[in-house]
Parts: sequence; structure tokens; C-alpha cells
Amino acid sequence: MQLQVAPSILSSDFANLGRDIRMLNKAADIIHLDVMDGTFVPNISFGFPVIEAVAKIARIPMDAHLMVVNPHKWFERCAKLGVQMCSFHLEAVGARKAASNLKAIRALGMKAGLVVNPDIPVEKLYPFIGKADFFLIMSVFAGFGGQKFIYESLDKVAALKAEIDARGDSAPIEVDGGVSASNAGALREAGASILVAGSAVFKAEDPAAAIEAIRNAR
Ligand code: DX5
Ligand code: ZN
Repeated sequence: MQLQVAPSILSSDFANLGRDIRMLNKAADIIHLDVMDGTFVPNISFGFPVIEAVAKIARIPMDAHLMVVNPHKWFERCAKLGVQMCSFHLEAVGARKAASNLKAIRALGMKAGLVVNPDIPVEKLYPFIGKADFFLIMSVFAGFGGQKFIYESLDKVAALKAEIDARGDSAPIEVDGGVSASNAGALREAGASILVAGSAVFKAEDPAAAIEAIRNAR
């Protein structure tokens, strides 16, 4: 599968958000939106007014990563704003609710993603193979941009990829947190096909070149 790069606008320059989105339209594959509620994670980022502004100029798919309690409250708003990929954390809702949430996201016409933080064993995702359209492995603890990549995440990606293949499924694996051109090759090798990157893109002198470097990393 072709590697896709999903820059996280959490690290973008919010005073120049329009400029940054237009750059992503040309250089990136997906726009990653980190929604934080200050309760599920110890930080608040942005919500629907910002997503609405992004939606007006986005020409590539928007991917909403909901780091919130009760994510189901927000699926409809995401769908209405044209979000194409919508994910929530398994540990925020528990296994039973996760299954119904995935169904609800799909019923709204979005791709349904299930996320786990670094302290959640990857096996917890296996029951959802076939029920999720993609999986998101956090390679830092959700809450902040600019953290250091946790290398054990590579093993989680490889294990999940093997399980997805063994079951004849094709759900892509997205990885989020501390991703840069220096670990993107190893992530691709392990089986990831969507890489989220915040600081590696937006703190670079040439963000478009940084995206390209992640995409082509070996
Ligand atoms: C962390 C967010 C990430 C983060 C990535 O809670 O989910 O998307 O913004 O930023 P970097 O690439 O800087 O770790
Ligand atoms: Zn994210």
C-alpha cells in the first residue's frame, strides 16, 4: 500500500491556518485534526469552529482524531462538516461501546477508526478487525504534539498488521506521535500505511519537503 502522510494541524500556525491548509492541499494526503477535551487528555486543542474553517478550504480528506470522553456525541457534527475519517479511543469508551461507535461512524458515511494509547495492549484491537475501517496506534501518549516517539510502537504495528493479514482484512494502520523521516521507513516496514506528523512537518523550514521526506523514507 502507498504510504500516506497526514500532517496534524495541532502544530501548525493557527494565525496562518489558511496558508497552512493550502500548503497541505498540495503536499499532503490527509489533514489530521486533533480534537482534545481537557478531560480524556490533559489538554484542550480546538473544536468544530476550527474544523469548519478548515473544511471550507480543504481539498484532501479530513481525519478527526477524537481525544474526548463520550466521542459518540460528536460523530454527526464531524460527518456534517465533511470529515471522511473519524476515530476515537478504545480506552475512552470500553469494548462494548466501541463496537456500536464504529457502526455509528460508518452509518454516517465516514471511515471508522479505533485508537489505542501506548499502554493499551495491541491484542485489544483484534476483536475489531472487520469492524473498523482503520486502526490508529499512538506512538506517544495522546495529549500533546512534539513528544518523543516510543519505539515499542513498531512491534505493536507489526503484530496488528500480521493479525489483519491473517484474517484476510485490509484495514490500514495509522501511526501518530513523534513520527518523522527518521522513523517513517521503519514504520512502513512494520506495516503502517498512514503516518501522522505534527512537529516534523510544521517546525520544518520547508513543510512540503518534510512531508515528501516522510513519504519517501526508507
Ligand atoms: C497527540 C496528537 C498527535 C500530535 C502529533 O495527542 O494526537 O496527532 O499532534 O504531533 P507530533 O508529530 O509532533 O508528535
Ligand atoms: Zn492525532
